[in-house]
Amino acid sequence: MKLAPLTDALGAEISDVVLTDLADISAIRRALDRYGAVLIRGLELSPEALISFSRHFGALDEAPVNEDGKTTVEGLPELYVVSNITGPDNKPIGSLGAGEATWHTDMSYLGNPPDASMLYAVEVPDEGGDTWVCSMAAALAEMPAYLRAAIDGRRIKHDGTYNSAGLLRQGATPTDDPHAAPGSWHPAICRHPRTGAAVLYLGRRRNAYVEGLDVAASDDLLDRLWAFATEARFTYAHRWTVGDLLMWDNRATLHRRDPFDPAARRLMHRTQIRGSKAPEVL
Ligand code: SIN
Repeated sequence: MKLAPLTDALGAEISDVVLTDLADISAIRRALDRYGAVLIRGLELSPEALISFSRHFGALDEAPVNEDGKTTVEGLPELYVVSNITGPDNKPIGSLGAGEATWHTDMSYLGNPPDASMLYAVEVPDEGGDTWVCSMAAALAEMPAYLRAAIDGRRIKHDGTYNSAGLLRQGATPTDDPHAAPGSWHPAICRHPRTGAAVLYLGRRRNAYVEGLDVAASDDLLDRLWAFATEARFTYAHRWTVGDLLMWDNRATLHRRDPFDPAARRLMHRTQIRGSKAPEVL
């Protein structure tokens, strides 16, 4: 197996691995813990093979409900389809469309959000649709003391109203009032559930709210935090090729996606490793 870091802040590309070899899987697990994101290129993964590889990293979540109420691919409840392609019924076959997906970590509006996600490229556009990952360990380590002091010991409310494409989640009522929005409270600074490392846990910006502040002060603090935490030096941007698999640690990173031409086709398969425990304060 070969490993090459992707940036100074996070990510490693791994090559010469066999995804069914238990020693290789352990090495990938260690790399994910250490680097926060792992890229493996040149794979040919059926949905079943992606699911069975993903299971080595923990129990899988069932795919979340997409924007038009579809829950799963028939027979494969753990497979989440991210796509702008429409089916014979003229409805999207997956989620998130072709627009930008803003910075977020998956499903942090839950009390026990997923530990990790795996995204595999089946069809990709010639341009756009790049996926970015941002290290929350590096951002916290580099954070100015005054900003860290402002969130130390505080919790943030993570909104469950909208997804990262800005679309309303099934069953949610539209709101931009962080008090009214459904969601979960998590410590702003967490202990990573596997490594024990200190990580910032921001979730997503829209409707977020810092406990104990009025909304204007919370918005001001969150805007400064987000601007700092997503600086380019903490990120890796991935230009996709068919057959790439990108895995990220949801408890240690954020991710986002660039928009792409809606007339182009993009089809990605995603699995999610279920949360092993709720986010814990450091
Ligand atoms: C996601 O946010 O999980 C999907 C990212 C992407 O489409 O690249």
